[in-house]
Amino acid sequence: MPCEKQPRFLILYGSQKGQAQSIAEGIADEAAEHGLVAEISCLSRHEEYRLERESAPVVFIVSTTGDGEPPDTTLKFVKTIRAKTLPSDFLKNLQYTLLALGDTNYANFCNCGKTIDKRLQELGANHFYATGHADDGTGLEVVLDPWIEGVWDAIKAALSKMSSSSHPPLKETLSDMTKENPAPTSPPHVELNRLSLADNKTQDSIKAPFDSDSKLTLGGLPSTEVTGLSSESDVAAAKSAQEAQTDQVREECVVAEPSLTYSLPPLSQSSLNVPALPPPYLEVTLLLEDKAEKFNSSLHTETFYEVPVTNAVQMTRGDSVKKALLLELDISAHPTMTYMPGDSFDVLCPNRASEVDAVLLRLGLQDQKHQRVQLAVRRDTQKRGAQTPPHVPDNCTVQYLLTWCLEIRSVPKKAFLRALVDCAGDSGQKRRLQELCSKQGSADYNRFIRDSSLCLPELLTEFSSCTPPLSLLIEHLPKLQPRPYSAASSTLRHPGRLRFIFTVVELPACPGRPEGRRGLCSGWLADLVAPVLVCPGTDESSCGQAQLPQIHVRMRPSGTFHAPTDPTAPLIMVGPGTGLAPFLGFLQQREIERRDSPEVAFGETWLFFGCRHKDGDYLFREELEGFVSSGTLTHLKLCFSRDAAAAAAAGGEEAAVPAVSQPPPACPRYVQHNLRLHSQRVSRLLLRHDARLYVCGDARNMAKDVNDTLMEMVRAELQLDQLGAMKTLAALREEKRYLQDIWG
Ligand SMILES: Cc1cc2nc3c(=O)[nH]c(=O)nc-3n(C[C@H](O)[C@H](O)[C@H](O)COP(=O)(O)OP(=O)(O)OC[C@H]3O[C@@H](n4cnc5c(N)ncnc54)[C@H](O)[C@@H]3O)c2cc1C
Ligand SMILES: NC(=O)c1ccc[n+]([C@@H]2O[C@H](COP(=O)([O-])OP(=O)(O)OC[C@H]3O[C@@H](n4cnc5c(N)ncnc54)[C@H](OP(=O)(O)O)[C@@H]3O)[C@@H](O)[C@H]2O)c1
Ligand SMILES: Cc1cc2nc3c(=O)[nH]c(=O)nc-3n(C[C@H](O)[C@H](O)[C@H](O)COP(=O)(O)O)c2cc1C
Repeated sequence: MPCEKQPRFLILYGSQKGQAQSIAEGIADEAAEHGLVAEISCLSRHEEYRLERESAPVVFIVSTTGDGEPPDTTLKFVKTIRAKTLPSDFLKNLQYTLLALGDTNYANFCNCGKTIDKRLQELGANHFYATGHADDGTGLEVVLDPWIEGVWDAIKAALSKMSSSSHPPLKETLSDMTKENPAPTSPPHVELNRLSLADNKTQDSIKAPFDSDSKLTLGGLPSTEVTGLSSESDVAAAKSAQEAQTDQVREECVVAEPSLTYSLPPLSQSSLNVPALPPPYLEVTLLLEDKAEKFNSSLHTETFYEVPVTNAVQMTRGDSVKKALLLELDISAHPTMTYMPGDSFDVLCPNRASEVDAVLLRLGLQDQKHQRVQLAVRRDTQKRGAQTPPHVPDNCTVQYLLTWCLEIRSVPKKAFLRALVDCAGDSGQKRRLQELCSKQGSADYNRFIRDSSLCLPELLTEFSSCTPPLSLLIEHLPKLQPRPYSAASSTLRHPGRLRFIFTVVELPACPGRPEGRRGLCSGWLADLVAPVLVCPGTDESSCGQAQLPQIHVRMRPSGTFHAPTDPTAPLIMVGPGTGLAPFLGFLQQREIERRDSPEVAFGETWLFFGCRHKDGDYLFREELEGFVSSGTLTHLKLCFSRDAAAAAAAGGEEAAVPAVSQPPPACPRYVQHNLRLHSQRVSRLLLRHDARLYVCGDARNMAKDVNDTLMEMVRAELQLDQLGAMKTLAALREEKRYLQDIWG
């Protein structure tokens, strides 16, 4: 409920995988420290807000998903504000700011945030603070941290402006607040990397074990001042942190490199600004099985179908850089499970049993792992709008919770590290956790946690004194997400079957991870099918007796990534590696359509495929060559990036990928080099013959480079400048003639 004294503002978020939601919740949690009341709602809960009548400032936090699309929960909101019938002054009273989350590896950076922002402006709404565009590709916090730091004064200034019609107590409170934090006189502006740490009253400030300007000598260490710690035990811990730091310094004489658990000056000597402790809000009760209601795990998986894996084939040679597997699922028992080539589907996967056991051990819950979990919101919590997480089913066991509900492999956020500080017994470890979640330790956080995709089990191994309660894990770990995979078949060719291909992701060893590990779902699938796996050169019948494994899946239809409805339209497909998947479905479907409709003049089809070695990971070679022989595939353009000729043409291992403006190498290394070799024909098909161009596979490098190449091709073909070429590609996207299904 809004309170009389403390002015309120509204936070609305749209999130696909939880980051925007968790940022929104973080801001809501911090509001009280700024003397504000935050109301928070998901954009999908339309009944909870009325923008045209909103009298408080509104903060939007929205991510982008798919190919520049809004999160599922935000689709309806975007549709509503886009209605052409809305007058241009519909939101004239709305004062808002917006934080867009995106990733510059995707072509439509922050498209959802930009779309909402533009439309709100068209409807007469006004910014009270500049929009932020945070890039998950380089680290959200680069924009996020200063944006949040500046938002508080901006909210207060907006409230002050809007309060002219408010009643006196509110005015007084606001005027007090703005005296303390004067309103920005010029339009608010987010200045990146120019933080005034001293001004930040929202965070705990922890001084360094050593004054930053003192000399480090092993004998006479300068005294330590600790501020911002709330209890005696904190102070005691900080003091012994100093002692631990002394030991650390001694060690640092030998160890010159920082690591996950050790820091070096200047960080180890810095005063730290750590985030405020997120208010705990959950109470966990464990019940003996006979005292609790029966838990029906099928309720939790009700939207998924359990289907048998009827075939599992290793598609790559044993010595390949990456292992790719083909799995075939029997979906014939579920007639509602239909799909079209281009669709993907979700696979439900559990956390690794060994990691669940390790977490149980650390939490001291091994003996209680079969007990039932009951959750309630703490009566005394200061977290506004606290709710029990919907992804934790009632009465599930502790083991089920850690196995199927929480993403224990997620990269711990700074707020989680902050909460873990208080669970660490060792003062040196406490200090290091503080550093990792502090502003001053951002580079270390990025290096040792974010960039290495470090996860909770790995962190707990390194921080051996840290024993968090179960409630903290439930509060901070996101929902375990199913993993999507593209269908690699057409039901016309494989009735009742759904095929897919995937690479087994390998994460390398790093500080904090002494040995590499495999991706959660791809590693689990690989283990699951190992007894029935057909490897190159092995006898298929040798696996005949093994029991077929079952997995849980649900379909995930694509809005746009489907073969053209007009069969005469030329079709250009770019799909290196497992990015080939949807195009196998496209081609299987087209082959049957050609057979059934001989009178139709089908458009020409091009496939650009690339892999590392012709004899190692050329996926579906026979099937692709068969499509060429039958005329279904008019042009198959191949490249093998690590075969001698391509490697030599690219200048060997040392050479960078050739710039787009250079002439194409005679022996193409990557799909985009092959596109450039056929630039004129492909450009003409695209620009003059209504072709559709599809790209699938890795978002991080390939899709970007292909996009750059297409830009060059469009420039050359239409004699345009860079901006003109960009606009042309944007128009092709808008017309759904240039489509991407990418990930990475
Ligand atoms: C619409 C859609 C369709 C997809 N279709 C396919 C498909 O057909 N085939 C397929 O193999 N994958 C596909 N993916 C990716 C797939 O969903 C999983 O993300 C992938 O299998 C990794 O999951 P995991 O649980 O094994 O790894 P996780 O445990 O989730 O770990 C992945 C971590 O590894 C890191 N990483 C480093 N390199 C890679 C890399 N090359 N690939 C993935 N992660 C990497 C990531 O940063 C991430 O932190 C698709 C993704 C989407 C969104
Ligand atoms: N719908 C989807 O979103 C979808 C569907 C399928 C797959 N995927 C994802 O796509 C990725 C495919 O991985 P993969 O292992 O099969 O193949 P990959 O790692 O992408 O490698 C395939 C080929 O691409 C080359 N390559 C590397 N950098 C490139 C660049 N900048 N431009 C063009 N080509 C480049 C590789 O060469 P070198 O290694 O020699 O450099 C290799 O020859 C996975 O991450 C998978 O999860 C997504
Ligand atoms: C499958 C997928 C597709 C994405 N597509 C885009 C995109 O088109 N444009 C963009 O800027 N960011 C894109 N992103 C990046 C997300 O917007 C970014 O990671 C964001 O932080 C996710 O926030 P969320 O967890 O709240 O959804 C995509 C991410 C994924 C996993």
